[in-house]
Amino acid sequence: MIGEQKICFSGVQPSGNLTIGNYLGAIRNFATFSEAYKCFYCVVDEHAITVRQNPADLRRRTYETLALYMACGLDPEKNTLYVQSHVPAHAELAWILNCYTMFGELSRMTQFKDKSARHADNVNAGLFTYPALMAADILLYQTDVVPVGIDQKQHVELCRNIAERFNQIFPDTFTVPEPIIPQSGKKIMSLADPTKKMSKSDENPNAIVYILDDRDTIIRKFRRAVTDSETVVRFADGKDGINNLMTIYACFTGKTMEEIEREFAGHGYGDFKLAVGEVCADALAPVQARYRELLADKADLEAQMKRGAEEAAYYARKTLSKVQRKLGFVQLR
Ligand code: TRP
Repeated sequence: MIGEQKICFSGVQPSGNLTIGNYLGAIRNFATFSEAYKCFYCVVDEHAITVRQNPADLRRRTYETLALYMACGLDPEKNTLYVQSHVPAHAELAWILNCYTMFGELSRMTQFKDKSARHADNVNAGLFTYPALMAADILLYQTDVVPVGIDQKQHVELCRNIAERFNQIFPDTFTVPEPIIPQSGKKIMSLADPTKKMSKSDENPNAIVYILDDRDTIIRKFRRAVTDSETVVRFADGKDGINNLMTIYACFTGKTMEEIEREFAGHGYGDFKLAVGEVCADALAPVQARYRELLADKADLEAQMKRGAEEAAYYARKTLSKVQRKLGFVQLR
């Protein structure tokens, strides 16, 4: 709690271009928390380097991610928007939490198993302890709720276990956070293989729709989306491709699956795919326009980063000092 307000925290990596999966599953929902919660939204550059990054790209994407947060409706007056590496308390608490996180727990993380298979030549210790840094992000702000996509739920649960373990030894240190998985846009799947999550690291560009794709590209990608050999638009087991397109359409229009089935009764997949592409392109157009405006003013983005980091650091310091005191670290005044 800060004053009367509960706290919301989430992070997005500046690695790779953001997809409509990130938009529908996470970023778009962030703004809805600003009314009821004190919100911290962080561009997690320290998480990004667990896989190799080109420095110029990482720097550019850090600006882009912040601009995109703002373009998606996050007002920097109402939310604390900042970059992880600007607040050193994240790395400091992460080290401490590493010492309260078990090797076995980290070994069970699905994302670690996936990523170490994908980057077999670089299974570094940071990739392994990534969830301890994520726990530090969350716990530093005494966070109550963490809006994340379903794929991050396991990490938030580990964060809860770490917080509970620490609190058992040192009572009343951390608030134990709850993950909030959005109802809509639970999981957006790849357009090329709808049994797999749409991932910004997918090698097939037709599998992914990026928030910044232009209208023609969006419509083309949806037109090529893999479906099935039926011709009826209906939500059903085994129709992964159509289910995914219906989910995307539902997210952008607010319609239910029944309404969508009725709307496209008697239409083929071609009409439906075009409609999905159009609602997606229409919804993203104003976000893209605002994004371009914001990105054109680097000095303003830097001023936002600075202000956000100062605000975040104030709260982060409080928690870090408390933890250090409890652990027995000597505090100098
Ligand atoms: N691990 C998250 C992801 O890959 C990003 C993240 C880092 C995060 N720290 C966080 C999300 C804290 C929520 C809370 O998407």
